[in-house]
Amino acid sequence: DIYKSFLFDDRYQMYIKGLGNTLLLTFLALLIGVALGVAISLIRVSWDKNHTEMRGPGKAFLGFFNAVSKVYLTVIRGTPMVVQLMIMYFVIFATSRNKVMVAALSFGINSGAYVAEIIRGGIMSIDQGQMEAGRSLGFGYVSTMRYIILPQAFKAVLPTLANEFIVLLKETAVAGYVGLTDITYAGNIIGGTSYDYLFPLLMSALIYLILVMFFTFLVGRLERRLRNSER
Ligand code: ARG
Repeated sequence: DIYKSFLFDDRYQMYIKGLGNTLLLTFLALLIGVALGVAISLIRVSWDKNHTEMRGPGKAFLGFFNAVSKVYLTVIRGTPMVVQLMIMYFVIFATSRNKVMVAALSFGINSGAYVAEIIRGGIMSIDQGQMEAGRSLGFGYVSTMRYIILPQAFKAVLPTLANEFIVLLKETAVAGYVGLTDITYAGNIIGGTSYDYLFPLLMSALIYLILVMFFTFLVGRLERRLRNSER
């Protein structure tokens, strides 16, 4: 009947909900991932660069966080994302029913490990002379990092970070493992109820493809703008 027009179709609602959850999950995880990644990379770089000259409690403090960071990077990058998500949802947050928040935290913790290594690579790519220049101008280690090294490192890794964002977007497709209705799970549910998976799954794939093409286009524009500011 007239109320069953396309816009009010259950399937349409399902994809809209899935799209909303996929985007929300991706953005929240990105925020957590970048925050974690920046912190971890700074700990790793600072330890590697300074520990030979360090003494006392400061050294013990940084050394402890450096060791914790190494364990975090090894465990997170050494185990599958889906398994981490399931442990987070069924074990650690077994009593929580907020799937989006738990999943965002899990994806954020996962992405943070990759972001940390991306940023660490960016910092190491900046010429040693930049640190020496900052120090000889009277900046301390932290100020030189903050005002001279990090801005350049960030610019260098922006395209790679943008790529991590796209990987993260697609990786959220495993959210259905904890019963979260994302784009993939929406297609799966519709396929299961209609006994026809072809079009529902093609639809899910198409939505991802459009999103990825859109974000890739934005990254391309960003890269061009960064290159222009180089001159
Ligand atoms: N699929 C891989 C895994 O299960 C990659 C995880 C996410 N990768 C990333 N760069 N955020 O571990």
